[in-house]
Amino acid sequence: MADTLRNAYIAGLGMCVPPKVVTNDDLSKIVDTSDEWIAQMTGIKERHFTEGDVATSDLSAEAAAAALANAGLDASDVDMILVATASPDMFFPSTACLVQSRIGARRAFAYDMGAGCTGFIYGLVIARQFIAAGTIDTALVIGAENLSKFMDMTDRNTCVLFGDGAGAAVVRPCAPPRGVVTHYLGADGSVGDLLKFPGGAAKMPATHETVDERLHYIKMEGRKVYVNAVRAMGDSVLKVLEQAGVSGDDLDLLFPHQANIRIIKSVAERANMPMEKVFVNIHKYGNTSAASIPIALCEAVESGRLEEGMLVGMVAFGAGFTWGAALVRW
Ligand code: UT7
Repeated sequence: MADTLRNAYIAGLGMCVPPKVVTNDDLSKIVDTSDEWIAQMTGIKERHFTEGDVATSDLSAEAAAAALANAGLDASDVDMILVATASPDMFFPSTACLVQSRIGARRAFAYDMGAGCTGFIYGLVIARQFIAAGTIDTALVIGAENLSKFMDMTDRNTCVLFGDGAGAAVVRPCAPPRGVVTHYLGADGSVGDLLKFPGGAAKMPATHETVDERLHYIKMEGRKVYVNAVRAMGDSVLKVLEQAGVSGDDLDLLFPHQANIRIIKSVAERANMPMEKVFVNIHKYGNTSAASIPIALCEAVESGRLEEGMLVGMVAFGAGFTWGAALVRW
């Protein structure tokens, strides 16, 4: 039973990945790595990178338009646009405002939200609160990243991991038991240093020195992030299962954030779910951060794997640190 009377569900999905595919072999020509290492250690085979001036708002607008079409709605129906991203077009205006203008959602208020790879789950929960409160009817929740622009292509510890893309969800009111059944969100800023983008903002504005010191790139202590991700994602899934009074057996599909196949497997194990019930597309896209879950949902619907009535879980972990999970009756 959902914990609200006016619930929210995902009424439409859309996605966009840029056409350029970069394989592990392509990367092995740039840094000291191999297809074997990347595939074994992460599950990634290839990812998509933007080219030229293609921006996060471009990917977002395309995904948003597809999601609206999928929901049978028009941009003029949208009340709120939320873009979860760690790689916005610029500090301001927000990417969400640029999307609002691009798709012509003139009635909508719009803002960006930063919760790293957990951004889509945070966004879905925020949209659900607005809908449950009765203040809006239609939200566009977009997870979008252009992380290739912020990757140090000399650092093999990070440049093999991330990919670009966007996924968008139209979130609308519904009556329980359909929609978001329960959620759990968490954060711990005390260890945020382990995954960061240090240069170019207020603490360390761009200077020739920050550029020389390569501070305008993603920095990550992978192993420590990994350990935290395994723990927090596992805990989050168990928490929402407990809150809903169900077990892993009751879930039809689990959508874990696609950061590392080994993390995904360990979360599935904690949730007591066989891998057949866990959606995996990391081999095609790498870690698309906030975009990974909506892209996965979109592919699952398009392939007929995700159907109305199913009980599905979503779980993520990301920079901040942030983490969270949601159970949704589709
Ligand atoms: O999206 C949310 C946030 N991100 C994540 O959740 C990612 C979390 N972290 C990870 O997925 C893993 O930590 C990695 C895949 C990044 C690395 O796996 P690991 O098991 O933690 O390996 P490691 O960092 O301890 O490195 C093992 C070895 C090292 O060599 P030595 O010191 O043992 O000789 C690395 O230098 O692997 C080396 N290595 C590589 N070798 C080939 C690191 N990156 C590469 C590479 N190719 N690309």
